[in-house]
Amino acid sequence: MPLFQTIQFNETTKILIWEITESFEELVSKVTLKEKTQRRLDGMKSQMHQRAFLSVRMLIQEMGFTDKDLHYDEFGKPYFDCHNYISITHSYHFAAIIISDETVGIDMELQREKIIRIADKFTDYECGYLQPHLTEEYVKKLTVIWGAKEAIFKIRNEKGISFKDHICVENFSLDKPQTQASLHFDDFVKDFDVHYENIHSENFEGNFTLVYAFEK
Ligand SMILES: CC(C)(COP(=O)(O)OP(=O)(O)OC[C@H]1O[C@@H](n2cnc3c(N)ncnc32)[C@H](O)[C@@H]1OP(=O)(O)O)[C@@H](O)C(=O)NCCC(=O)NCCS
Repeated sequence: MPLFQTIQFNETTKILIWEITESFEELVSKVTLKEKTQRRLDGMKSQMHQRAFLSVRMLIQEMGFTDKDLHYDEFGKPYFDCHNYISITHSYHFAAIIISDETVGIDMELQREKIIRIADKFTDYECGYLQPHLTEEYVKKLTVIWGAKEAIFKIRNEKGISFKDHICVENFSLDKPQTQASLHFDDFVKDFDVHYENIHSENFEGNFTLVYAFEK
């Protein structure tokens, strides 16, 4: 199945998710790539990575853009020539983009218990409200927090940002789809609205968490 889900978040913000079921050959036949992109594709070691990369090109085509419109800065952050902001994520057999006229970042992660093992590497402020003994909820919340921090990192794209020390995600309930976060870095504070949702496909065991953030 190609386009898995579209979220029209507001008038100027759209999120598109692609479920990667097509072969490399099928995807490559459906996109037109500029030379630089073709070189990057050729240099990728894993075919899953290539298929995810091509699926992102399918998604931007869905939005009326082409690979020619999409560029990357020196750190790997994607941008368009026009006034729209774009952020990209891929995880296993999903690829997703967010396009907006606001500054946005997106991340998608598979919910895994493994995240508990690295929790102390990216949480500090959040330990004030997290409840590790509620394992299932703990894993889901850690995945939201991780995704929020990745999404914020993608917005700011600044060297030296520590997920643990510089980004705080406010307490939230999994029944609600949003929370707030803040970045404390280089003598300033930036606030963010964070939205998240559960994504599940019948073709894959397990649940994913989609997180996107807006800089206020
Ligand atoms: C760059 C980074 C944000 C990518 O995230 P990821 O979860 O590995 O991978 P995702 O699939 O979600 O995102 C990949 C996409 O992010 C985008 N991206 C890469 N570097 C970026 C940057 N510096 N800024 C914004 N977006 C970036 C690209 O579009 C990339 O996909 P593409 O190259 O195929 O177009 C991540 O690897 C990173 O460096 N994170 C911060 C470092 C850190 O502090 N980590 C852990 C601390 S405990």
